[in-house]
Amino acid sequence: MTVDYIHLAKTIAALTEGESDQVALMATVTCEVHHSDDRFDWTGFYRVTAPEVLKIGPYQGGHGCLKIPFSRGVCGAAARTGEAQLVADVDAFEGHIACASSTRSELVLPVHDGFGALIGVFDIDSNVPDAFSQQDADALTAILSEVFGR
Ligand code: SME
Repeated sequence: MTVDYIHLAKTIAALTEGESDQVALMATVTCEVHHSDDRFDWTGFYRVTAPEVLKIGPYQGGHGCLKIPFSRGVCGAAARTGEAQLVADVDAFEGHIACASSTRSELVLPVHDGFGALIGVFDIDSNVPDAFSQQDADALTAILSEVFGR
């Protein structure tokens, strides 16, 4: 099963219409994205809860680390730089945090609110090496900006 981003974006837009609570939105996006593609083995949000600190938010998959400083990991890099992190091989990424030893590749996207403030990151991990493409990053970035940039 490979994700159909047009269908996914429509489903998420319909489910979240009129909702502004960030946890409700994160939970819904996580569920819909996670079940849309077999490549996605861990899917979830880390939220900015204090300066330079990410804390676990809604997720699906095995347990995730509770706290990640901006200085660490792929999630920290996305939060620090404000740029998408497309990591084909986690072993080659300096400082990668291995919450699950089965993870081989990752895509982490920064998430901004309607004022442009960073509210967290959206992390998708795959047990398949080199699982993600720029197309995944672009389509998911568009969905995140539609949902959280309202
Ligand atoms: N992907 C992460 C760690 C979080 S988990 O794998 C759920 C990272 O290195 O930032």
